[in-house]
Amino acid sequence: MEKIVSLAKRRGFVYPGSDIYGGLANTWDYGPLGARLLQNIKNLWWKTFVETRRDMYPVDTGLLMNSKVWEASGHVSSFTDPLVECKICNARLRADKPEEIEEHEKSHEGQKVSWTEPKNFNMMFQTHIGTAEDSRIAAYLRPETAQGMFVNFKNVLITERPRLPFGISQIGKVFRNEITPGNFTFRTLEFEQMEIEYFVKEEDWEASFEGWKIQMWDWITKILGVDEAKLKWRAHEKDELSHYSKRTEDIEFEFPFGWGELYGLAYRGDFDLKNHSEKSGQELEYIDPETNEKYTPHVVEPTFGVSRTALVVLLSAFTEGDDGRIVLKLDPKIAPYKAAVFPLVSNKPEIVEKARNVYDVLRVSCAVAWDDRGNIGKRYASQDEIGTPWCITVDYQTLEDNTVTVRDRDTGHQIRVATGELQAHIEAKLAL
Ligand code: GAP
Repeated sequence: MEKIVSLAKRRGFVYPGSDIYGGLANTWDYGPLGARLLQNIKNLWWKTFVETRRDMYPVDTGLLMNSKVWEASGHVSSFTDPLVECKICNARLRADKPEEIEEHEKSHEGQKVSWTEPKNFNMMFQTHIGTAEDSRIAAYLRPETAQGMFVNFKNVLITERPRLPFGISQIGKVFRNEITPGNFTFRTLEFEQMEIEYFVKEEDWEASFEGWKIQMWDWITKILGVDEAKLKWRAHEKDELSHYSKRTEDIEFEFPFGWGELYGLAYRGDFDLKNHSEKSGQELEYIDPETNEKYTPHVVEPTFGVSRTALVVLLSAFTEGDDGRIVLKLDPKIAPYKAAVFPLVSNKPEIVEKARNVYDVLRVSCAVAWDDRGNIGKRYASQDEIGTPWCITVDYQTLEDNTVTVRDRDTGHQIRVATGELQAHIEAKLAL
């Protein structure tokens, strides 16, 4: 993990938040490469689960919502973690994480550590809307994107007339006042979710749940290429289920600090729609167009953390040779740059100009880096370290026959490709 943290900062994937002021604990900023990586993950997810499907209706809802939403959803009363305090040093930890308690007790070696009784700690961040002190309204920053989709269920039904089963999806930021944030970007106070509320007939929920298990597994293993041996499904025990769920399973990844949740799949029943209907006084039912039957659909919810995905693909892609050379074997579809263009030498204007032309043509269709500093070996190493799949070099031969070398990151193998065919060559590789 230390190597990833150091590479991430050195190369501009992830910087500590508010860095020039000494940081703010457990906040992180994504740099030029990290921002591209996140965007590529979100685009690929959108293409996979929204754009190419006929049953998905995307929304983009507010971070701030009427507080009644969070009362109806149960978050005001139940979105809590059990908090205990160490009686020696007052450190606050989660009572439901025995491994973290054990780790903390080791820091007081030789002493008998006792803890306060667990207290429920609500994880929603509160803020206020309005300017006059006495009339300001309390509001919460949303702790999940899901409620934005439930409260728009009726709007989507009216505007889109979808037929069951169908999903409402969104990608967006959420905020949680975590008791023990940490492990780099694994558990942070703000993060993005890619979430789907999939509405089904009650009797179909189990089949839908099993179907989503396959689709989520395919996404992380086949589409993002993460090693299956480092992933597993784990079903929640009854006492760890969220207040809204009757069945939840997580995909866990073997992080350097142990197995931890990557994604979640929850059966939320009709909990959310029923509660919002009751508290808002609005009918949130579906009318079957064929039978005219009216009922509240049940919900299966696949949810994916964006930054956890980024952390997992970085950890999975990281390789280091005996000589200390780092190659980030990212899937080309999500690599920050698809290619890098180099002029072999920087003091020969015809070569530099030709390379600039190649760069300008390519960057219209995909993200391309430019590098004209140092020797070619160093430039290859620099691109390998950030996961650029192909390096294109314009050399003396280019001036004669209009071909360039294309070097493959993972094999080091080089071929010559005509400049006019470069775009098609890269697009074909990306489609593989
Ligand atoms: N709507 C359901 C829901 O929010 P969750 O399991 O609490 O479920 C969904 O969160 C996903 O968000 C997780 O599977 C994980 O990928 C990510 N996630 C949760 N807490 C996080 C945190 N503190 N920092 C980064 N990612 C987090």
